[in-house]
Amino acid sequence: MSQPTNRVFSGVQPTGNLHLGNYLGAIRKFVALQASHECIYCVVDLHAITQPTAVWGGPAELARNTREVTAAFLASGIDPGRHIVFNQSQVIEHAELAWIFNCVARMGWLNRMTQFKEKAGKDRENASVGLFAYPTLMAADILLYRATHVPVGEDQKQHLELTRDIAQKFNNDFAERIAELGHGEAYFPLTEPVIEGPATRVMSLRDGSKKMSKSDASDLSRINLTDSADEIARKIRKAKTDPEPLPGTVAGLAGRPEAENLIGIYAALADLDREAVIARYAGQPFSVFKPALADLAVEKLAPINAEMRRLLEDPAEVDAVLADGAERARAIARETMRQVRQIIGFLGA
Ligand code: TYM
Repeated sequence: MSQPTNRVFSGVQPTGNLHLGNYLGAIRKFVALQASHECIYCVVDLHAITQPTAVWGGPAELARNTREVTAAFLASGIDPGRHIVFNQSQVIEHAELAWIFNCVARMGWLNRMTQFKEKAGKDRENASVGLFAYPTLMAADILLYRATHVPVGEDQKQHLELTRDIAQKFNNDFAERIAELGHGEAYFPLTEPVIEGPATRVMSLRDGSKKMSKSDASDLSRINLTDSADEIARKIRKAKTDPEPLPGTVAGLAGRPEAENLIGIYAALADLDREAVIARYAGQPFSVFKPALADLAVEKLAPINAEMRRLLEDPAEVDAVLADGAERARAIARETMRQVRQIIGFLGA
């Protein structure tokens, strides 16, 4: 099998409260990349269980959230016929390759991961081993399909650098064998992150210094993809701002994180750059800008919201998409694992 040259892989955790940051930072880009790439989009349920059960909610909640992320993919415009949509646990090769990568990655590399430090908090002794090893599973997700491009938000950048380090070390450690088996100089590609546009890091609506997140205790901090039009408008109305009118240039947003965030959200939703949005609203007060942003957000999100609701009323349709996607993902994953076992020297491969 030759290396794919334009394959996209990305994943979203089914941990509830899917929000505007997930949509603008990731899902919207998943949709756009379908035109130029062969895409594989995964609901990463094996990642969700690295957190305490109280966080991911237990079996019923996990199933509900897995369907919700899938529904968001489909409602946003991902085509599961032409591309692949599935949930991770149905393709067990993810766990197998993650084990191998646990033996490639070094403790020192994982010790530097800032997301582990944030998620484990002060009580690190009590974090799961899975949370610590999370980035090796993420590298396995991507490299199982030898994906060349990975669209993500800014917060995943460090994990993608680690993925490249793992690929490189594997390629080096087994270089001779890889060449002997006819795979050329490298078996795994050095994956490129796709982190672009005005909304790679959407901030909380209540605090411009904090990332918009699924786990923020305040629901006013984020716009959920399941929020009604009224809720969206109310949250934007209540969003924290400063008393100054909007500046005349993008440079004028410096030191005004809340204004910068709302301009970035507008730009991403309208498919404009920030300069164009500033040009449109230069010198205007938030009392003018916020209602315009609320109208735009409702216009873009309401159709997604309606389609998600429709899909969630009939889980059979969503489940069928996942089963079909898993079968097609498995065909690729099995072949990669057969080759990886051969490269390492496991008998029987
Ligand atoms: P997760 O589930 O936390 O988030 C899903 C995607 O949404 C992006 N994102 C944001 N983008 C902009 N602003 C925000 N406030 C914001 N919050 C989240 C994330 O960057 C991500 O792209 N580790 C991943 C899931 C994963 C994965 C993978 C991704 C597992 N395996 C392989 C890519 C490739 C995560 O926890 O995403």
